[in-house]
Amino acid sequence: MINKKNMFTNLRKQFLNRMFIHQHYFEICHKFFLKKDIKDLFENGYSVYNKKFPLENIDLNKYLNYSDYDFVVDRKKIENVDLKKIYTALIDLGVISMIKNYLGKKIYVYDNSILTLGNKNSYSESMQPHHDSKYRRVKIYIWLNDKNLKTHPLYYLKRTHKQIKLWHKYDETRFPNLDQKKFDAIYGEKGSIIFFDTHGIHSHFKTTNVPRSVMELSFESFGFLNRLNKRNIKNEINRLNLIDLDEIIFLGNKN
Ligand SMILES: [Fe+2]
Repeated sequence: MINKKNMFTNLRKQFLNRMFIHQHYFEICHKFFLKKDIKDLFENGYSVYNKKFPLENIDLNKYLNYSDYDFVVDRKKIENVDLKKIYTALIDLGVISMIKNYLGKKIYVYDNSILTLGNKNSYSESMQPHHDSKYRRVKIYIWLNDKNLKTHPLYYLKRTHKQIKLWHKYDETRFPNLDQKKFDAIYGEKGSIIFFDTHGIHSHFKTTNVPRSVMELSFESFGFLNRLNKRNIKNEINRLNLIDLDEIIFLGNKN
């Protein structure tokens, strides 16, 4: 007998995947006048912005101060006073409007952390190739270190953001057998702004032990075909402490 719940979950996921029609629609509409950085995001699933983030205006030392790096990953929430400065800078740089060109007009942002990789290796969880199981979503990494090929890059498997994916459980979102050589290894410079669609397959085993840090912000679109929609937005606002970028309401992080 067909399990009705599974059937419903499958149908819902396939329906949600139709949001990729949006992606193609946006891509075709913008094809002729898009700048290179957003074209890359549409076509490959990631891009490096043509301008650097003005890091000198924000005091990040408090997030980067470690007595040791004996860990794989550590995250520190960015304080609201700094978040305001960061979003103001991102608006001025045109980053927010670029994300809106990609995701649609209504977007929310969350995560808002400084992500530091320590000196330990890892072959599990977020250090396995995976997609984020959130459908259309863009993460930006603002690189906080000088370029160093001995640090762990952002690995990205080009064009996988356009694939329709189905999954039932966590294991089905991980792809530990994919060859690392097939991935692009993206290393930022200090202030580089790297965009990537987290529906594409990204990340790979961490085999380097030189620490590095990025500012990490996640942007997600809102609408009836999207994961975030009218039905769940109240719960998600509480769960993720979303910032509504249409009105620039700084709900911010729970510090
Ligand atoms: Fe991820």
